[in-house]
Amino acid sequence: MENDSRNRILQLRALIERHNRLYYEDAAPGISDREYDALYRELAYLESAHPELGSENSPTQTVGGGVQQAFKQARHLVRMQSLDNTYSEEEVADFVRRMQRLLPGAEIPLTVEPKVDGVAISLLYEGGKLTRAVTRGDGTTGDDVTENVRTIRTIPHELAGNTPARIEIRGEVYLPKKEFARVNAERDEAGLPAYANPRNTAAGTLKQLDSRIVAARNLGAVFYAFGLLAGENPATQTEFMQWLERWKMPTGTWLRLAASVEEAITAIRELGEVRHEFVYETDGAVLKADSLDQQRELGSTNKAPRWAMAYKYEPEQAETKLRDITVQVGRTGVLTPVAELEPVFVSGSTVSRATLHNEEEIARKDIRIGDTVVIEKAGEVIPAVVKVRADLRDGSEREFKMPEHCPACGEKAVRAEGFVAVRCVNLHCPAQLTRLVEHFAMRGALDIENLGDKVALKLIERGLVRSPLDLFDLQLSDLAPLNLGTDDEPHTFGEKNAQKLLHALERSKTLPLWRWLHALAIPEVGAVTAREIAALHPDLAAVADSQILRDIVRLDALTAPNKNLTKEERESLKHQADALGEKLLRAGAATKSKAAKHPRDVNTTIGPVAAKAAITWFDSDEGRETLNRFEKYGIRPASEETASPTGSPISGKTFVITGTLSEPREQIAEQIRSLGGKVTGSVSKSTDYLLAGGEAGSKLEKATELGVKILDEGEFREMLV
Ligand code: IVH
Repeated sequence: MENDSRNRILQLRALIERHNRLYYEDAAPGISDREYDALYRELAYLESAHPELGSENSPTQTVGGGVQQAFKQARHLVRMQSLDNTYSEEEVADFVRRMQRLLPGAEIPLTVEPKVDGVAISLLYEGGKLTRAVTRGDGTTGDDVTENVRTIRTIPHELAGNTPARIEIRGEVYLPKKEFARVNAERDEAGLPAYANPRNTAAGTLKQLDSRIVAARNLGAVFYAFGLLAGENPATQTEFMQWLERWKMPTGTWLRLAASVEEAITAIRELGEVRHEFVYETDGAVLKADSLDQQRELGSTNKAPRWAMAYKYEPEQAETKLRDITVQVGRTGVLTPVAELEPVFVSGSTVSRATLHNEEEIARKDIRIGDTVVIEKAGEVIPAVVKVRADLRDGSEREFKMPEHCPACGEKAVRAEGFVAVRCVNLHCPAQLTRLVEHFAMRGALDIENLGDKVALKLIERGLVRSPLDLFDLQLSDLAPLNLGTDDEPHTFGEKNAQKLLHALERSKTLPLWRWLHALAIPEVGAVTAREIAALHPDLAAVADSQILRDIVRLDALTAPNKNLTKEERESLKHQADALGEKLLRAGAATKSKAAKHPRDVNTTIGPVAAKAAITWFDSDEGRETLNRFEKYGIRPASEETASPTGSPISGKTFVITGTLSEPREQIAEQIRSLGGKVTGSVSKSTDYLLAGGEAGSKLEKATELGVKILDEGEFREMLV
């Protein structure tokens, strides 16, 4: 048995390493994330059951292999300094004068560059190859985030052309503004709180312990400086920027050279105008003495260089009138107040609406209809009302009250205990339903192309669809004549589109479990949680009955602080929690960080809030009805077992095993099955491989006769890796 586990562990390590290479180095994933996770979990499980077979080099212990324990610390070869900030043009003039005093009579050309508002990073290239990526940390030592940085597509793993022996290249990792908006829209949909700005989101992403999550966020990077440079040095900052471009390192592209204070200030103002068009967020301009000789002469104070300075732009704000507050109904029925504004231009675009999040937020900021409000864009992207000009009130302003009824269906709205949000709980509310159907069909869910919001709304208006699953009752005759236009200008959906939609619906019945879990719009269960739940359960019925989800909720309750307990009670709870923690670890439903002292300190893969929400949903009438309807329509989401091995080299292949092998035949058969292959007893035309050991007899003859491929044990093992 011990030997079996050993073999399987070795095999899994080899497989995972191969897929890491394909994924990270060749950017050509060989298997799906889910399949990868299944392999990874199996390995982690076997290693935890056999600590004596653990190895430092196992992919479970290294960064690229999924979830890391924590980040290693790494020292910068040259300290990462920060810059002095200023907010005024006078101080820019002071800065230039100070340099002139220190270099009497010299001309000091300056570069003006965007100050990228990202996460500072230092990349070490040795012999032109990226060997390490470290965050700023305290300037001397930072987190080694190499594996995460390797997933950023625009950062070359190898510099192009002539390269120095060693160089630390410095810049910023950022989340593109568009990407920030996309991520937040997804979070909104999933009922999760929005991220505040792209910078923090980028920082959080870079510190993700799982590199695969980092890879899914399209981070970008911009470089502008160097630390250690062993080799020829550039003469100027402008020359260095050209080197970066030659090496195919991404740069900010906008750069001005200024010969005087006046020119520098003109450049700063110009940048202030165009910076909103950049894909990354900027919060200022950086001025640098262009000449590296001059930089060296000027030197640094213990805090910042004397040859550089950051000019920070005021966050752009605008004042406008709040015309009205309307209420939007989301997919989960949440009623969101929205500010309807007199259109106003801010940070590069015209804003006429802004979410006010909830009633409490409105009360806290004392926002009234008719007020003059101050608008800002969170991360230059999402408009937000930051405050009210109460001094400009004339008494005509009206307080906002959350409606007691849903504005779309008129049903009474409720506030669930512990939630700030007010919800319409009418499952048949047309506004909610349209959002729900849209969600059902979206890319990250069932990806049903032909089902846009127009079609959804029509189907709902016609009473053909009252819940997303009603889509599976639709007939060609319901869909084809659907009028998407108006009575005057009709525009029918048509037979072809209707066929396509029906096809897509049929196809969706066997999509992976996580897509279905996501599509069902279970509160708190977004795409990521859906994947995690799916990875731990074979099918939907198992999720509904899940002991794992219940254990996660129970562990959370057991570890919650409770002061009113006796010592004995506390001890007993700890024991129970430890046992539960161990159980979850074994099931692959939790990970343990190095800092965790007790099994109860595990990090569960699925958060207790999501776990609880999922259990509640499956126990509800809606959940039960959903399961019944899955049966009725023959919806069978692809399970872990059938989905996971599709990427393995033997998936779907039929084997016959004969002769004497190094392990019992049944064990090898198990291995084949676990990788998605089939094992049968006799050789036929449909046999793909005969695995033949020593003294193979009639089966070998038969296989030779039928032209079935014959493998010896060595070839077979090769195949698995
Ligand atoms: S030069 C020794 N150039 O802003 C100075 N920094 O607030 C090296 N930053 O520490 C930095 N854009 O993390 C430089 N174009 C740019 C920059 C930039 C953003 C960051 C950097 C710096 C911080 C100072």
